[in-house]
Amino acid sequence: MNVAAFTELTGPDGLEVIEAPEPEAGPGEAVISVEACSLNRHDLWILEGDSATVEGIELPFVSGLDVAGVVQETGEGVSTVEAGDRVVLCPNETCGTCRYCREGPETLCESFSLYHGGLAEAAAVPADRLVTLPDAVETTVAAALPTAYMTAYQMLQRANAEPADLIFIPGVTGGVGVASVQLADVLGARTIGTSSSSKKLGRLTELGLDHAIEATDPELIRERVQTIGTADVVLDHMGGEYTDIGLSVVRRGGPVVVCGRTAGSHSEITIPSLFVSQKRIIGSKMATQTALEKLVGLVAAGELTPEIDDLYTLEETRAAFEAMQNRESVGKLVVTT
Ligand SMILES: NC(=O)c1ccc[n+]([C@@H]2O[C@H](COP(=O)([O-])OP(=O)(O)OC[C@H]3O[C@@H](n4cnc5c(N)ncnc54)[C@H](OP(=O)(O)O)[C@@H]3O)[C@@H](O)[C@H]2O)c1
Ligand SMILES: [Zn+2]
Repeated sequence: MNVAAFTELTGPDGLEVIEAPEPEAGPGEAVISVEACSLNRHDLWILEGDSATVEGIELPFVSGLDVAGVVQETGEGVSTVEAGDRVVLCPNETCGTCRYCREGPETLCESFSLYHGGLAEAAAVPADRLVTLPDAVETTVAAALPTAYMTAYQMLQRANAEPADLIFIPGVTGGVGVASVQLADVLGARTIGTSSSSKKLGRLTELGLDHAIEATDPELIRERVQTIGTADVVLDHMGGEYTDIGLSVVRRGGPVVVCGRTAGSHSEITIPSLFVSQKRIIGSKMATQTALEKLVGLVAAGELTPEIDDLYTLEETRAAFEAMQNRESVGKLVVTT
């Protein structure tokens, strides 16, 4: 079978489509015939040799977390899915035995990691991490959901976001940004988002973004948000300078939920604004498998349509990564096989 493999960690030109052995289902595993796999900046960082979370990568490396398809065969001891089932994978990998696996939430697992291997024609995955898809949910659409939408879902939860809240989302046009706007919309909250691109913001407005700010200068963003109102919640996948902007625009006592470092791994924050107004910075990582089940339910009910910028074939995976690297896309990029 073919896989889109990272053969050098030098950016998109280090990706090649190569032959790999057909996977076999070990105990507790299912082999799925992959129909779709969406990309995340997490994959791009690995490809660029700049991953903060994945260590000891052996080349060639097949990335791809968000995979959906049809179960081909199951290994010993699998009872939750059977051949022919249409499924999407929750990419969480947990030990199942630590305190956090026992008591929850599983996202705090001491050995938490993510599945990689979806950029392939077939993949062996842990069967108990598969969520069965209702007929109404296409595998292409399901593949857009896991990482970005699960992350946005849990960030809203960790913020205790409520209907009518005003939510500030810097860097609103990517996977997590668009998911945040759409899920805030489902909740009934209002949103402010930033981007360097007026064209991309135009699409976000169609998707439900209430206030679009085309700017990258921190002072300008701060001023523009403050003119719109006081944010009840900030969802920050950007890090860098944006965390301090978030702290300055969030309400007294309000949360800045941080899940990423798209704009930088280090932030300088204004300490008095943290304690004088009792604001909170909260870290967030992925979400539980239950969240993915609920997201699939929202799609099936017609309440959520994940935004897919474009579909690519496996052979075109390099071009998909180039589009992400060049900041050309809105929402998710999906590779279909
Ligand atoms: N904690 C978790 O569990 C978790 C899960 C998923 C993602 N994440 C993190 O969340 C972040 C977003 O992931 P994603 O897959 O949604 O990425 P993505 O789709 O590539 O995000 C694109 C967005 O980031 C902005 N952006 C890109 N490069 C930028 C830069 N150098 N400076 C400022 N803005 C920039 C873009 O702004 P323009 O519109 O101006 O181009 C766009 O709005 C990443 O840091 C990722 O690691 C964390
Ligand atoms: Zn654990």
